[in-house]
Amino acid sequence: MVPKADQRRRASRSRKHLPGSSEHGKPVFNRLLEHRLIDQVSFEEYREKVRDVYDGPQGAMLATCSMLSLHTPLGARLFRGRKFDLRGARRILDVGSGAGQIAKHLIKYSDPEAEITCSDLSPEMLRRARNRLRSDRPRFVVADLTRLPFADNSFDCVTCGYVLEHLPDARLGLAELSRVMEPKARMLLLTTEDTFSGAWTSRMWCCRTYNRRELARICEEVGLRWNRELWFTPMHKVLRAGGICVELVKISS
Ligand SMILES: C[S@@+](CC[C@H](N)C(=O)[O-])C[C@H]1O[C@@H](n2cnc3c(N)ncnc32)[C@H](O)[C@@H]1O
Repeated sequence: MVPKADQRRRASRSRKHLPGSSEHGKPVFNRLLEHRLIDQVSFEEYREKVRDVYDGPQGAMLATCSMLSLHTPLGARLFRGRKFDLRGARRILDVGSGAGQIAKHLIKYSDPEAEITCSDLSPEMLRRARNRLRSDRPRFVVADLTRLPFADNSFDCVTCGYVLEHLPDARLGLAELSRVMEPKARMLLLTTEDTFSGAWTSRMWCCRTYNRRELARICEEVGLRWNRELWFTPMHKVLRAGGICVELVKISS
């Protein structure tokens, strides 16, 4: 594993120079369309910008956008159909909970005694999630994905939906998630792919996109096995649409 200090140093450099960058493999048009801020400023400055975006009016529209883009109903299919099976999970972490889109499914489809923790960089998003969910099950923790305030091996199940694209280097988030996961814990990871529609998404939400093969390699590097690629529907699989959606398993050391 790459030491955390090195990862941070790498991430504060431009993404163009990172070993995990897919910049050169992307179609030129997608590269031109993709939002650039993440390459232009330090991670600290970029993170401030992200927090402002989600704390502000755009964040207030997030739940509606997820309904209109069908992400919320399509996400429900993953849990309802047990493509990502929550049965047996005891300590579940949802990172970057946003308006609680995934947490809503966790409350509905997990075992009633499972503890659910929702975390997000944006305090305002967590306030919105709390209001929307109207459930006393989740606890809400304001936290940056790259510095989670949880002990090693704290969770046996993690969900991470559309958060990783807000990091200049996936290793920063994935290594931290791997740390808080116990051996054999599972993660549902959803993130924006380096496709044409992914590039549009990146423009709307000031984020980056990921190349599927490079992301798989980074997951393995931080001890997360790329277990199963998931698709919202058979049509998404045929068209290879809907972004990257994968079940990861923490390799037991
Ligand atoms: C697009 S929303 C995803 C919401 C939900 N998880 C879903 O699947 O629809 C991205 C969320 O990630 C949060 N976020 C962005 N960067 C983050 C970071 N470094 N640490 C924690 N949360 C972050 C944002 O505040 C926002 O609420």
